[in-house]
Amino acid sequence: MAEPRKLHIKSYGCQMNVYDAQRMADVLAGEGFVETAQAEDADLVILNTCHIREKASEKVYSELGRLRMARDEAAKDGRRMQIAVAGCVAQAEGEEIVRRAPVVDVVVGPQSYHHLPRLLAEAERTGRALETEFPVEDKFLSLPQPSERNIRARGISAFVTVQEGCDKFCTFCVVPYTRGAEVSRPVSAIITDVERLADHGVREVTLIGQNVNAYHGDGPDGCAWTLGRLLVRLAQIPGIVRLRYSTSHPNDVDDTLIAAHRDLATLMPLVHLPVQSGSNRILAAMNRKHSADDYRRVIDRFRSASPEIAFTSDFIVGFPGETDAEFAATLALVTQIGYAGAYSFKYSPRPGTPAAEMQEMVPTAVMDERLERLQHLIDTQQAAFNRDAIGRTVDVLFERAGRKPGQIVGRTAYLQPAHVFPGDAMTPESLIGQVLPVRVDSLERYSLLGELAIASPARPLAATGA
Ligand code: 5AD
Ligand code: SF4
Repeated sequence: MAEPRKLHIKSYGCQMNVYDAQRMADVLAGEGFVETAQAEDADLVILNTCHIREKASEKVYSELGRLRMARDEAAKDGRRMQIAVAGCVAQAEGEEIVRRAPVVDVVVGPQSYHHLPRLLAEAERTGRALETEFPVEDKFLSLPQPSERNIRARGISAFVTVQEGCDKFCTFCVVPYTRGAEVSRPVSAIITDVERLADHGVREVTLIGQNVNAYHGDGPDGCAWTLGRLLVRLAQIPGIVRLRYSTSHPNDVDDTLIAAHRDLATLMPLVHLPVQSGSNRILAAMNRKHSADDYRRVIDRFRSASPEIAFTSDFIVGFPGETDAEFAATLALVTQIGYAGAYSFKYSPRPGTPAAEMQEMVPTAVMDERLERLQHLIDTQQAAFNRDAIGRTVDVLFERAGRKPGQIVGRTAYLQPAHVFPGDAMTPESLIGQVLPVRVDSLERYSLLGELAIASPARPLAATGA
């Protein structure tokens, strides 16, 4: 048999990209590629890029500079290294990448990963291949099922894409242009994926999509199903003990999603609900299509269905024209809601988006100061949220052995890492994949430290986790 070829994928950015990296690995496994942790050893290196962060494309070009050196070294040993750029920078920059970085063999947009084998062969023949179109065929259908080996490598927790793209067109955001219009996968395909993951030991599934709660995939009954309805169905799959979803838009929160939080023990009480700003004028300029009060009301609906739900969010400071008073409205909203955590970003223009044409840029020093104040407030809230766990007994899904001997690591319902030494009676490995109560004693930075609150080794949980 031929030596397997080695593949290294370096992913930047969001969960969607982490998931996409797995899908590319699945496509390429069919071509005899196995993954390697070192770019230097690889026969194919893929940079899976993200366009959302500041200076994303510059980072890609400097990484390509480093890879050119690695490729030259490989060539000295008589090895040929192919280099591909995937993800949203590939989509946005296309030919510009090939022009600026001749070292690149393949440029592939997120809609075309299933064509990777053909593109690599084409690059082999002609020196270069580029595909950043939005094809008309259903790419979800053409992607292969992950191999057993790849599923196992994913461990206890896995992502499943249920929708892609976004129709919201927030004025600062590239997603509607790089990922295209919102498309939902059929319910049956998602059920098949989740059942297969569960059969291979996955216990927690996070449904992902750029605007996941806009989900409206075809159901087996011929009707479009909402995310809430999909969650109810997935909760019945044996072996799946935790369900999550990300990222949501406040306007697409419907009653079925709220009811799912009320009714499903498997649906975790942590909701990522970006608001971006607390100022109505800025929200309008961002084309968010909701006010700060609309957002507060959505939070209230979740909380009345299930009081233990905690929220995380995304914020942008220094959107063009943002005044001190408008920034203060964001701080006021954060103070009022009380978050378990949040991401905050300085506004940076993305070429091609409407906000990039806006003139009144907020000075960098003002943005820096606002970001620091907002992050301080959010850190304070996050620390308080974590401290609140001390002295409580919380459920932890154990995922892997810890770095210290005899230690095991898992996560709480709120995704807080939890570290436990189960003691001699139980090997850490026997606990992986189980949800067990942990009495939390203390905090170490963001992690909870505690002890198992059970007397003897637990049997595996009931399959539905109910
Ligand atoms: N500038 C700053 N932050 C941005 N985000 C998206 N586009 C921009 C931009 N142009 C942030 C938003 C979004 C998160 C994923 O990234 O807060 O929710
Ligand atoms: Fe971008 Fe999210 Fe707005 Fe869609 S809803 S345009 S993905 S920020």
